[in-house]
Amino acid sequence: MQTLARLRTGFLNGTAGQTDYWREEGELELYDRTFAQRIGWKWNAVLGELSLRHWSPPSRRLVDWGCGTGIAARRVLEHWPDAFDSLVLSDRSPRARAFAHGRVRFAHPQMNVQVAAPDAVECADSVVLLSHVLSELNDAQLLSVLNQVKKAAAIIWVESATHDNSRRLVSDVREPLLAAGWNAVAPCTHCGACPLLSEPNERHWCHHFAKVPSEAHQDSGWRELSERLNVDLRVLPYSFIVLDRQPTQSKDVGLSRVVGTPREFKGYLKVLACDATGLTDWMLQKRDAPELFKNLRRGGRVPLYRWRTEGQRIVEGCEE
Ligand SMILES: C[S@@+](CC[C@H](N)C(=O)[O-])C[C@H]1O[C@@H](n2cnc3c(N)ncnc32)[C@H](O)[C@@H]1O
Repeated sequence: MQTLARLRTGFLNGTAGQTDYWREEGELELYDRTFAQRIGWKWNAVLGELSLRHWSPPSRRLVDWGCGTGIAARRVLEHWPDAFDSLVLSDRSPRARAFAHGRVRFAHPQMNVQVAAPDAVECADSVVLLSHVLSELNDAQLLSVLNQVKKAAAIIWVESATHDNSRRLVSDVREPLLAAGWNAVAPCTHCGACPLLSEPNERHWCHHFAKVPSEAHQDSGWRELSERLNVDLRVLPYSFIVLDRQPTQSKDVGLSRVVGTPREFKGYLKVLACDATGLTDWMLQKRDAPELFKNLRRGGRVPLYRWRTEGQRIVEGCEE
């Protein structure tokens, strides 16, 4: 538990980026059984959403940048078993690269898997995965990542849902890449400027909630981790961005994406949602649309809706 506590402190206080913190293989093993599993559940949510939105990888070459134990690549290969011919695992830590390589080769013996140091990894025409690495990158390093991925076919970037991470993902990744002609695939429903960056929306951040498998709640190991490290197992918030270089799709016109979770009041919900016209804090009265009310309160598969509004009220709507 001490190792996990040390790692977690570094992740939370922003010092993890300073040095290679993987001291031995056992630490990667431990991380892979714990924190990486939670990250994997977030990846499952993101990949599930991409499939529901009919998106599939635009290249057969996969890169996991800052791979750690390679959980992102493994989840992606499980989700799209026939989509890729080759994978490059890249991390500043040679120990992490070797560990991830072993894990992926074990699960996917047919896959052509290479490792590469971060400055040597070729991202052109690849689907590039980045996961829980943003807070370890300073501004210059992030710029260098953007430079590396500029000729990629797509990026799927998943992060923890802190206010800072989420907003940096928008301001320093989404906006510059869209300005360079990329297309926003998810969670966005449009390719316009992100309304979260306008001044009245400074307190908000784009985040979502993944499902924690029910087994985790019954498992004594997870319970101990939750109690000793103060990890809340009931909620699993995440932020993410998926961008590609395909022509902009028109199918999402009119779609709204709920940000965070609706807040419940007596007889109504307040629903913060983003669409092509901006970010709006809608009111949904139970009596206006009881089914939609129930659905939003419960949390749909993906919080994407098409609705009819009157003034500040949602009066009708369906899940996409
Ligand atoms: C918190 S871990 C996340 C690992 C994995 N992507 C995941 O989601 O579980 C961050 C990883 O990024 C790597 N990393 C940090 N800074 C890096 C840099 N400048 N270049 C490449 N890798 C870096 C670390 O070595 C570590 O393995």
